[in-house]
Amino acid sequence: MAARSEAKLADQTPDQKEEVRPSPPPQKNEGGREDDSTEFISKMALYDLERADSVIKSIQHKPEWTAADTASFDCMHYDGNAALDHCARMLGLDQEPPHQRILDIGSGFSGTGRYLASKYKAVVTGIELQKRFHELAKEITSRSDDERVRANVRSVNADFLTLDAKDLVEPGEILHVEFDHVVSLLCIMHFSKEDRVRLFKRAHESLKINGTFYIEDFYHRKPMTDDERTALRDVVSCTYLPTAPEYITDTMDAEFVDAIWEDVTVQWQPIVRARAEEYRRRKDKKAELERFYDTVAELFERGNVGGVRLTLRKRDPEEDKEKQELEFEGRMKNGSG
Ligand SMILES: C[S@@+](CC[C@H](N)C(=O)[O-])C[C@H]1O[C@@H](n2cnc3c(N)ncnc32)[C@H](O)[C@@H]1O
Repeated sequence: MAARSEAKLADQTPDQKEEVRPSPPPQKNEGGREDDSTEFISKMALYDLERADSVIKSIQHKPEWTAADTASFDCMHYDGNAALDHCARMLGLDQEPPHQRILDIGSGFSGTGRYLASKYKAVVTGIELQKRFHELAKEITSRSDDERVRANVRSVNADFLTLDAKDLVEPGEILHVEFDHVVSLLCIMHFSKEDRVRLFKRAHESLKINGTFYIEDFYHRKPMTDDERTALRDVVSCTYLPTAPEYITDTMDAEFVDAIWEDVTVQWQPIVRARAEEYRRRKDKKAELERFYDTVAELFERGNVGGVRLTLRKRDPEEDKEKQELEFEGRMKNGSG
């Protein structure tokens, strides 16, 4: 096995009784959002735009860009398009009429939107916190050789937690506040415990009744060591991870139902390891990014940090009424009402 970089986590036994929390996340401002959340997140080595910039420079001469032209950097979730085909299946995109409206929280370079628009005829609005990511996303989409992509994919530069519905439209456009589906791939791990609650509430507000919320994320699979928590915070810009029951409870509190929880830790382990080894072989590798890839691979191999695909449905308030009516009828029949 190739030598690991200095980022190797120290061997420690997880403290099963009491978990040590990493140092506190950035201070909150009045609006409840971390003051320097953009800065905190943008420090992550994966978000170094040098690679993206150099690819973009090398394809400037082409009048139109194919998906393959930007594939080396524009997808930041694991398992590339296979993950998006899985997401599309969970949303039922292959069975629904075209032009399903999808909101993508933390859309990066809009790679997800372009794929879902091109293959599944979806209309995708991505919300991206980092301005430069958003600008590159816009450029890649506008230069796409696929008309469906150019017409149906949009990037909005905003923090999903403070976004105003009006930000979602260009001047003169009709505002669709309710989306058929909301997706978020490898973004929610950047949110604090309190901000997650707000995110689930906002995702719920953005969805039509019975709409689907599809998430890919990290979660607290088993008790973590101090070192793992520190690595998560310092290398992955992640200050908090919920356990599976905590995760589900937070989404249920936001009125989501029918949770389908798929643990993909074992599936992701070889993917993140292969990515780290592939990067290590590159002549132009940078120490910070190598450290990032190594740390993620090691965290997953240890198995305390897990990967999850979570599918949820926005509950229909009428369900309660129907349920109550059925219960009432049942009581009447039994003569107990
Ligand atoms: C690991 S990247 C994943 C990008 C994309 N989902 C993908 O699969 O390629 C996570 C993205 O979420 C963005 N992000 C983090 N917090 C956000 C927030 N509050 N609002 C919008 N975007 C956010 C980050 O800037 C980053 O581009």
